[in-house]
Amino acid sequence: MVEEVLEVLEGAREGVILDGTLGGGGHAKAMLGRWPRCRILGVDRDPEAVREARRRLEPFAERVRILEMRFDKAVDDARMRNEVLKGAFLDLGVSSWQLDADHRGFAFRETLPLDMRMGGEGDGMTAADLLNQAEEAELARVFQEYGEEPRARRLAREVTRRRRSRPFRTSDDLVAVLGAVLRRSPSAREKARVFQSLRIAVNQELSVLGHTLPRLRDLLRPGGVLAVIAYHSLEDRLVKDSFREWSRDCVCPPGLPVCACRGVALGAPLFRGPRRPAPPEVARNPRARSALLRAWRKAE
Ligand SMILES: C[S@@+](CC[C@H](N)C(=O)[O-])C[C@H]1O[C@@H](n2cnc3c(N)ncnc32)[C@H](O)[C@@H]1O
Repeated sequence: MVEEVLEVLEGAREGVILDGTLGGGGHAKAMLGRWPRCRILGVDRDPEAVREARRRLEPFAERVRILEMRFDKAVDDARMRNEVLKGAFLDLGVSSWQLDADHRGFAFRETLPLDMRMGGEGDGMTAADLLNQAEEAELARVFQEYGEEPRARRLAREVTRRRRSRPFRTSDDLVAVLGAVLRRSPSAREKARVFQSLRIAVNQELSVLGHTLPRLRDLLRPGGVLAVIAYHSLEDRLVKDSFREWSRDCVCPPGLPVCACRGVALGAPLFRGPRRPAPPEVARNPRARSALLRAWRKAE
């Protein structure tokens, strides 16, 4: 959704834009190429993505600062430095490159390591660690909440039963559990749901996003725009609810005789509902089909 993102961030074309999910630098490159006065603060927690972005954005090196860290940490650091942003952009989840890289273990293709850490080596627990160590109830919550998996409890029970005799190591081990619970071969969709739920847990994706959104809003200068692309319904709900709450004049609990809150909206969404990629983009890149773009402008 490069064109759509450029359209919503157009107002930030002469200022600093934080790209918190730099990935391979595709969106950042488009902004730098199109807007000669914009500067990018690019962040990614994945060292391999950072290397690729550095290479790709080399021609714009004077206008780009790249940080290898989580975006919540980068936003906290920017607040400490009293930075102000004209625009901010998050393109959540994993990149196609990460999904295709066997050694990162994000996908359910055969015999891949159960890793899924976006930050790579040294970035906390792997998916295998989680499957081998988490309490059964915690696993059931992850499958149910993040994967909307109807058989979450049975799945968690089967994981804890199997790990007693053999620890989880590869994608095959997890697919086998799913197959045992379903008593048939799981479909690609069923596998994707379970794998995605683990990835969200391993990378604490929802709590990191929840921490970051209000802080990013505070870093924006008046009139600045925050744009987010989400690929998961829970992520999108977090974004939608935040934008809605910030856009209300009064956020007092119902029944208060007089307004005791801020009493004024902090800004407004740029458009109603999410924008989705156009059919030709989905035809070119089927992984884009679940992308939902929302954007919010801070009051002047
Ligand atoms: C969908 S890709 C972004 C692609 C990018 N917009 C481009 O044009 O190439 C998501 C990227 O965000 C990174 N990421 C996800 N969560 C992050 C977080 N909390 N902090 C920093 N980077 C994160 C991932 O490592 C991945 O490289």
